[in-house]
Amino acid sequence: MPKVTIDGRTIEVPTGTTVLDAAKMLDIPIPTLCYHPKLTPFGGCRLCIVEIKGIPRPVTSCTTPVSEGMEVTTSTPQIEDLRKTVLELILSDHPNDCMVCERAGDCTLQELAYFYGIRENRFAGERRIYTKRDGNPFIERDLEKCILCGRCVKVCDEVQGVGAIDFGYRGFKSKICTPYEKDLDCEFCGQCVAVCPTGALTGKLWAFKGRQKDIKEIDTVCPYCGTGCNITLHIRRNEVVRVTSREDTWNEGWLCVKGRFGYKFISSSDRLKKPLIKRNGQFEEVSWDKALDYIAEKLNDIKSKYGADAIGGLSSARCTNEENYLFQKLMRAAIGTNNVDHCARL
Ligand code: SF4
Ligand code: SF4
Ligand code: SF4
Ligand code: FES
Repeated sequence: MPKVTIDGRTIEVPTGTTVLDAAKMLDIPIPTLCYHPKLTPFGGCRLCIVEIKGIPRPVTSCTTPVSEGMEVTTSTPQIEDLRKTVLELILSDHPNDCMVCERAGDCTLQELAYFYGIRENRFAGERRIYTKRDGNPFIERDLEKCILCGRCVKVCDEVQGVGAIDFGYRGFKSKICTPYEKDLDCEFCGQCVAVCPTGALTGKLWAFKGRQKDIKEIDTVCPYCGTGCNITLHIRRNEVVRVTSREDTWNEGWLCVKGRFGYKFISSSDRLKKPLIKRNGQFEEVSWDKALDYIAEKLNDIKSKYGADAIGGLSSARCTNEENYLFQKLMRAAIGTNNVDHCARL
C-alpha cells in the first residue's frame, strides 16, 4: 500500500492505483478525455498531465501508477497552459457545430472548451472532412467530431467482446474504422455511444428530439428481459426520446440493443390498447367481456376437437413476473398444456 501526496494531501492506496484514481479518492479533479473508469488506460489525449517531484516533464496521471512517497501537483500555471494548448489542438480540427450538435450541453469536449475559455483557433490548418454517413440503423457516426480518444474501440473490445471497430490509417489520417470501412454491422449495443465524450457517436433515433436541458430523466428497469438492467428514460413532451443507463447501477451503465434502442414501441400507434375481433375480414373494437367470452369459446372448441396440446400460449418478457406466472398457470391449469413460451427479441 504505497503512500502518495497529491496537492499536499497524503493518502495510502492499493498497489497499482494510478495517480488519477488516487486523486479521485481525494476528490481532487483532473480533466480527462480518453480515460474511462471501466476501461484500460490509453494515455492518448494528454489532458490529465500532472507534475511529479523528481520527474523533469509532465506525465499522464491516468497511466502512471502511484509509487511510495510520490509527490504530485495536479495544477500549476504551466500545466494549465499545456492542457489548454492540447485542447486548442484538438479543437483546431473540430467542426464548430455546437449550435446544432446532438451532444451540445452534454459533451465533455464542449465543457472543457468552456472551462478553458477557448474561443479562437490559433492552429488553423488542414481539417478532416468526412462526407459519408454510415447507413446502419442505430448509430450516427460523425467522425469529423471524433477526437480519437479510443474509448469506443476499447468498450467494443473489452466490455462487449465484439471488436467491430478499430483505429485505421496513420497520423493525420487516423480514423475509427469498421472493417473495409463498410457500414457498421455489429450488435448495436450502443456501448460505444455511451462512452463517447463528444458528438461523434449518437443515436440516430435521438436526432433533433430535444436538448438535454428540456428533458426529464426517469430511472426505471428495462422491461425487455429478465436481466432487469437499470435504465434512465429521457422524456420530452410525454414521449421517450432516448434511453441511457447510469454507471453507478449494478449493470454499470451497459445495455444491449433492445434496452438502449428498442423503446419506440412505447409510443407506437400500432400498440393494441383495446380488444379487437375480426369479423368479415375487418377488426372491430369490442368490450373485454365480449373478447374474453369469444376467446373461451374458441379455445374450448379447439380443445374438444384436437386436444389441449393443439393450443400454445405466447406471453411477453415485457410483462411483469406476476403476469407471466398467471399466464402459464392459465395455460397449464385451465387449458392443460405446457406449450408456453415468449420472445424477447427486438
Ligand atoms: S461534439 Fe461537442 S464540442 Fe463538438 S460540436 Fe458537438 S457539442 Fe460541440
Ligand atoms: S454498437 Fe456495440 S458492438 Fe457495435 S461498435 Fe458499438 S460497442 Fe461495438
Ligand atoms: S468516436 Fe467517440 S469514443 Fe470513439 S474515438 Fe472518436 S471521440 Fe472517442
Ligand atoms: S485522460 Fe489521461 S491521457 Fe487522456
